[in-house]
Amino acid sequence: MVNSRIIKQRESLPIFHFRQEIIDAIKNENLLVIIGETGSGKTTQIPQYILESFEDCRLIGVTQPRRIAAITVANRVSEEHGTRLGSEVGYCIRFDDCTSAKTRLKYMTDGVLLREATLDPKLEHYDVIIIDEAHERTLETDVLFGLLKETHRLRPELKILVMSATLNVEKFSDFFNECPIFSIPGRTYEVAINHHRDAKIISLKSTYVQRAVDTTLYIHTHEPPGDILVFLTGQNEIEKSCRDLDNQARELNYRRDVQYYDEVRNLIVFPIYASLETMEQKAIFEDPPEGTRKVVFATNIAQTSVTIPGIKYVIDSGYVKQKSYDPSTGMDALLVVPISQAAATQRAGRAGRTAPGKAFRLYSRESFEQLEVDTVPEIQRSSLLGTVLSLKKMGIRDILHFEFIDPPDPMLVKNALKQLFLLEAIDEQGMLTPLGDEMCIFPLNPFLSRVLIASARQFGCSREVSTIVAMLSVEEIFITPRDEERLFEADERRKVFYHSSGDYMTLLQVFEGYRDSGYDRDWCRDRYLNHRALSMAKNVRDQLRELMERHGVSIISCRQKDNQDGDHRKKRSKQTYYETKKYDFTKILEAFSTSYFIHLAKRHPHRSVFYHYASANIHTSEMIDSNSSLLALHISPLSALHPENKIVKVDSLDWVIYHSILYTSKALMKVVSKVKLEWIEEKLKLFKKLETVDLGVDDNKKDKQEKEVDDESVDSIGKESNYIDEEEM
Ligand code: CDP
Ligand code: MG
Repeated sequence: MVNSRIIKQRESLPIFHFRQEIIDAIKNENLLVIIGETGSGKTTQIPQYILESFEDCRLIGVTQPRRIAAITVANRVSEEHGTRLGSEVGYCIRFDDCTSAKTRLKYMTDGVLLREATLDPKLEHYDVIIIDEAHERTLETDVLFGLLKETHRLRPELKILVMSATLNVEKFSDFFNECPIFSIPGRTYEVAINHHRDAKIISLKSTYVQRAVDTTLYIHTHEPPGDILVFLTGQNEIEKSCRDLDNQARELNYRRDVQYYDEVRNLIVFPIYASLETMEQKAIFEDPPEGTRKVVFATNIAQTSVTIPGIKYVIDSGYVKQKSYDPSTGMDALLVVPISQAAATQRAGRAGRTAPGKAFRLYSRESFEQLEVDTVPEIQRSSLLGTVLSLKKMGIRDILHFEFIDPPDPMLVKNALKQLFLLEAIDEQGMLTPLGDEMCIFPLNPFLSRVLIASARQFGCSREVSTIVAMLSVEEIFITPRDEERLFEADERRKVFYHSSGDYMTLLQVFEGYRDSGYDRDWCRDRYLNHRALSMAKNVRDQLRELMERHGVSIISCRQKDNQDGDHRKKRSKQTYYETKKYDFTKILEAFSTSYFIHLAKRHPHRSVFYHYASANIHTSEMIDSNSSLLALHISPLSALHPENKIVKVDSLDWVIYHSILYTSKALMKVVSKVKLEWIEEKLKLFKKLETVDLGVDDNKKDKQEKEVDDESVDSIGKESNYIDEEEM
């Protein structure tokens, strides 16, 4: 049963007055753009209106850019609808399908719909597709736009709705054959904008966190009642700000310091970033107790996806954490970058939803004017590896001329094609190979799909590799505590799992320990392991194995027969650690090398830094001199191979492969393993071959010029030092 409070809430939303008009518009149009202010009720209400008034509608799919949004919205809507989550209303995100045969309304990530479209371009199961939060312009959303346009040609009766906050809507309509735009009239109030006086503030990244806390305290002590929303960039700085503000507020003498003492006598502080824990704190979305001011430190998630009621003051750091393509590695990195003017305007607007408000920008008006006008869509700043593979799988040969709403830089497309060639997913003419076709079975990064297939077909270790791949598909396994003493303890506990070949095997050992504990939560806690991540890894592993079985990818173990109970404990510099002898681990590393030779790095002859093979284009005999301007790669302190962990001697390391790079003050290689050059010599020839193939893109000459430009950007990346930690946005 739906209670009357929920019915009241639904009816109080701005969108409710336009219910019938919206239903009529959807009845009349098969392509429609709907815009409305954030919080007006698009995401939660429109799919329900369809559900309630189109009785013969079988399935409605609604995409969300964020996994967390898909889950929380589905939760909320199933509650409003009065059904259990997963029955009539459900969600589906990668590796977590919470739908059933009964499901008629399915919230999903744009990535999930994209995968479904790869398998069935007509999307036959659906009667309505809603691309929600279209203004976010994620990579997947942009590709979906192109595909849906084709789906519309094939199945004109499919209803396609694009929902967006009030940004750039003409563009969407123009793209979809100039379809009608339904605009939900919104009430917004005046927001007074205060810029910071310091003209240079936009370049002083280190100070914005402190400044944000100071400004919050200023508002709390000087401004009338009203809640405060602060835009920062990531989990770490959000948690730090919460602590700092709590501490400073505790020292206030309210009677003396707080101007509006009669109305605000207290402060309550919340973090919000893309994790279920922060989203599930109901109190964030409720009014604070009488006499209390609510402060929410948030990532970009609060800019347009999540609405926090009662906000009267917005503090804008001017920064966002954003996925950006790193030409030195061909991978994406999360970087903190200045926001666009459009984003700054959206952020300020969050203060004027229910009454006039104030926005405090922690940067000057001059800096504001220097910001980019619009946010660059993700497709123009990301690695397109997975996207290009999906498009190839769908039979789209000429990717450079695919109908994108904003086409990606041809350089990005070509780099993706090159990597796919190195992975042997496409041939010299750019045609999908049988291997490439098989790689599409798995909802994984193409590097990992390739490894998994090689482990089954060539190296006989797919049982172990499926576990390691699962471990690599979840969030960080090792917990790094903040206080020194526990940090030391965590470092010690972690050592037990280190394997002398490196981190792929270490991850396997962690998982096996977890399995042997009976998947025990306390076992994880005692070892500073992230239980949620490990239990997710178990789940992912099971799903991968199911897919392998279904598609005839055999599950074989490289466990050695004469070593059935060959677990050893070795003594090494007072550290007891556990190193399994059960497996022929070189097989596992060889399997990983089939993809990760692309991430091959060679150690400097006299130091413990490494250089990327492909960008350095070094040949085995050549020495790298210490003045090299190449990006110096360091081994992550969490790695088994880090010199201070004393598992291996640095000079025993010549060649390593790494999984990803994390930019802190240095470029850190994460998940590093020792490899032998003889395993990969053959593969390295592919790099040479790249220079002579056109991959179906017939402008090889131009390509070479671009390559030189690439190499220059390697230098600048190497010198840049203000990168950040990878974490959830
Ligand atoms: O999509 P749009 O931004 O237009 O609005 P919405 O996400 O449908 O949200 C409508 C209202 O429902 C907002 O006022 C939210 O505060 C509320 N809501 C909620 O209470 N809990 C959720 N999980 C989602 C939305
Ligand atoms: Mg929405």
